[in-house]
Formats: sequence, C-alpha cells, structure tokens
Amino acid sequence: MNLLGEIDRTDMQSMVDAFPEMLQITTLTQEFRQSIQLAKKDNIEGICLLGMGGSAISGLLTKGVIHSDVPIISVRNYSIPKFVKQSWIIIAVSYSGNTEETLLSLREAKKKGSTCFAITSGGKMRTEVPSNRTHVLPKGFQPRAALPLIFSAVFPTIELLLGKEHIDLKLIAAQLKKTQKQWGTEIRKPEDFAQFLVGKIPIFTGWSHLFPVAYRAKCQINENAKAAAFYSELPEVNHNEIESVLTFTEKKLVPIFLRSVHETRRISQRFDITHDIYKDYGCEPVSIKLRSQSKLEETLAITHYLDRVSVNLANIIGVDPINVDRIQILKKRLASDNETI
Ligand code: F6R
Repeated sequence: MNLLGEIDRTDMQSMVDAFPEMLQITTLTQEFRQSIQLAKKDNIEGICLLGMGGSAISGLLTKGVIHSDVPIISVRNYSIPKFVKQSWIIIAVSYSGNTEETLLSLREAKKKGSTCFAITSGGKMRTEVPSNRTHVLPKGFQPRAALPLIFSAVFPTIELLLGKEHIDLKLIAAQLKKTQKQWGTEIRKPEDFAQFLVGKIPIFTGWSHLFPVAYRAKCQINENAKAAAFYSELPEVNHNEIESVLTFTEKKLVPIFLRSVHETRRISQRFDITHDIYKDYGCEPVSIKLRSQSKLEETLAITHYLDRVSVNLANIIGVDPINVDRIQILKKRLASDNETI
C-alpha cells in the first residue's frame, strides 16, 4: 500500500491525522547509513543541526529525548558558532531546500571542512552535499506538515551517529495510533480543546523534552490558525513569568501546562504549586497529560494532539490552515535582492 499517495497534501487535517503513518514511511537508504558509519570513524565532537521553522522542529524534538555526552546544538540563523569545528557533524534540514539561513550556514560549515549531511525534498540544497549524504524527502507537503517525515530521518541519523540503541519508530507509531483513539476519553477531543482556545492566547509551558513540544505548539497555532500563542519553560517560568499572572485574565492569556509522566518529584511540585498560585489570581491553567512509555512517545503524542488542535482552531476561526501568505510575501520580498544565495 502506498501510504504517501493516500495522503491529501492540500488538506492539513488529513496530513495531521496521518502523523503516525508518516512517521514510518521513510527509512534511511543503505548509502546514507554507510556515510554515517564512515563519519563516525573520526571522533565526533558535536552535532550541529541547521534549519529554520518547520524544518528545525525535528532536531529540537530529537535533542530533547536523546541523552548524550556529545553536545547537540540547533542553529536557526545565517551562521554557525565559532566552536563548531571540522570535528563536528552538520545536519542541514530544509524541506524546500531553498531557505537562505540554512543554505548559508551550511556553506560556512562546508568551508570549515565539517562532514555535512542534508535532509531536503529538493531545491538548492539537493546539490550542496554529495548524494550519499543527502536524504531526499517526498515533495508536496508544507514543511511543518512534513514533521513526521523529517523526524523519521533526523532521529535515526542522530541515533546512528551517537551509536545509540535503535528505537523502531514503527512501534512508536503504533502507540500514537492507540493514543489517537483515546482523544475524547483520556483527553478532551482536539475540536473541543480548540473551541476552548477561541478568543484566548495560549502560553504552552513545558519541562525538559516537552519544552520543544511547547514551542512546536506555539508555531502550529501561529501558522495553522494564524493566531497568537506563546511558549515557556518550567522551572524558568517560576523565576519571571509567574509575576505576570496578574495580567493573564485581562489579556485572555491561558497557560497550557504540558505535563509529563516522567517528571521528577520536584518538577511535579513546581507545576502543581504554580497551578495553585495562578488559580489564586483568577487564572485557570489547563494541563495536558498523555499516558506514555517513553519520553519519545510522549513527545510525539502531545505534538500530534496539539498539531490537530491547531488545525481545528483554524477551522473554527475560519482561516486556511495550509497557506502561510505572510511567510511567502516576506520570502518573495527578500528574494528580490538575493545576491546572498
Ligand atoms: C511552513 C513552515 C515554515 C518553513 C520555514 C523554512 O510550513 O513550517 O516554518 O519551515 O520557512 O522553510 P524550509 O522548511 O523549506 O527550509
């Protein structure tokens, strides 16, 4: 069965609903895997991910769940930090392959002599890196909707580079499907959650591996529902944001706590006490928690759920969740003076 062919790339909801399937469609080619093994022969001092927007998320989610002695950094900019030297591995991710920040930082890394890998569906990036170090993604998706496809390339690449035990994403996908069936029982239906968000500004708050999930949720509400949203990190919020609770009700801000079954006792206490203090000031935070066996499963399950909430919110508000007109206008205006790439 050609699962990819069945996904309607013009319909954001069908792409989001196919999240578990998309997570298991692509696998790294033998050639690409061999190049990773070759790169591993030299001592890897660090892994540097390059990419913007929807193409950066997979690296941020991966960074959140992979524990390693080797530093993993994510660069969302035109250039790479000075400490990224030849002995670092570069993974450049651009769905379109034409994002100037990613292309320019990749070229800088190439100049330094670092071993570079590319994950892209085409564009200029297709020819930046030798084909045995390029993973080619299927075309036709909005980059943010391609998250499971990109993740299923980024995650095993980093896993292999670090010599980690292989996690079968098919098993994770099967779990995600089970969780999807629990929408409406264990957790309210995404459409009901979206209805609750109408007229409010969510602040998604996550700890550890759920911090990038909070960031993804903010981006999805921005891009799909064309609505304002923010994200923050616990315990950091306990040292600043908590003081602004006085303005939450007036500004229609609603904290959404992404709770983890893997929280430490102290983090759970912090979330609970923060919740109570917010309530004392007339603000009712909402918690999202999903049963999961691993941090990876939890990361993807909450991402999947909130992706769907963002699409439902777009539908309720009456905006098109696919088009990102302002992003396109900006890219076009910049392209009129594109000597840089
Ligand atoms: C659009 C989206 C954007 C892009 C970003 C970078 O769906 O998610 O955030 O991801 O503008 O473009 P690419 O991903 O093509 O490098």
